[in-house]
Amino acid sequence: ALPLAVAGGWPLAYTTAQAQTAHDPIVIQFSHVVGADTAKGKAALKFKELAEARTAGRVRVEVYPDSTLYKDREELQALQIGAVQMLATSLSKLATVGGSDFEVFDLPFLFKDHAAFRAAVDGPVGASLLRRLEPSGLQGLAFWDNGFKVFTANRPLLSPADFRGSKIRIQSSRILVSQMKALGADVSIHPMANVYEALRSGQLDGQENVPTNIYSQHLHDVQSHLSVTRHGYLAYVVLVNRQFWDKLPADIREALRLALREATQYANSIAEAENQRALELLKASGRLTVHEPTAPELALWRTTLAPVYRQASAWIDPTMLAAIRASGG
Ligand code: LMR
Repeated sequence: ALPLAVAGGWPLAYTTAQAQTAHDPIVIQFSHVVGADTAKGKAALKFKELAEARTAGRVRVEVYPDSTLYKDREELQALQIGAVQMLATSLSKLATVGGSDFEVFDLPFLFKDHAAFRAAVDGPVGASLLRRLEPSGLQGLAFWDNGFKVFTANRPLLSPADFRGSKIRIQSSRILVSQMKALGADVSIHPMANVYEALRSGQLDGQENVPTNIYSQHLHDVQSHLSVTRHGYLAYVVLVNRQFWDKLPADIREALRLALREATQYANSIAEAENQRALELLKASGRLTVHEPTAPELALWRTTLAPVYRQASAWIDPTMLAAIRASGG
């Protein structure tokens, strides 16, 4: 059930709605599931700063990081019913509300660099994906970059065979299920907020994520090995409750769009460096052994994961994949 009573009372939107006067600010509760010290966390705070400045106090943005309000699935439900107004949810998780084509981005080794990801979403592919959120009562406003995922586990991961018999956390995406099956691993879908404890208790053996998430969630304290496979991509859609958005005064909506445009540029400008920094911090932590795969090792990861493309063609729109490739992916 949706935990409506949070943080010692009703979410603020309810209490302010009761006491709303002409001078009360419009409150935007922006919920997300990672640390404030990540590209997404920082960009959410940048949006707050810009939105409040550009609307001269007519809007107040409250950012709730680290699943303090809602976990993965609940945050989408909370947005749909209007208990929060804004999220930045990973593309993998958006298949549940926007259709399976959001999973295309989970295909292994799809993008060669950050620019290739951004070229893919900045054009018609991105626009078409955002439109698919509308029937679910959601309005997608922007894509925020994050970067390449790596694997961690409680054992060395030098080759795909090392995954056999292990239990690995993934986000809720069928392509990620196929990916881990291709590696001979069992999968388990956990919300981000539960990953640390599941790894610590031994319920899970490993997981995949970007270095900033691994570092800020302290996963290196409960994992012994990290392989810099860069095998998958993590990025977000910033989305709002559509009814909330449509009812905003036009000048406010426009100011928020501009604020978001700037926050998006900021997110995209820091994502790669934030992950590089986090990887260095992980190496320096001494908590786990970091392995940089050699070229032949990487070739083996690629060939082992190649069948995922064939499997995914059963439910992924081939024109979407072709368009991503044509844009430089
Ligand atoms: C995950 O669940 O691993 C990510 O989607 C978390 C995030 O929002 O970066």
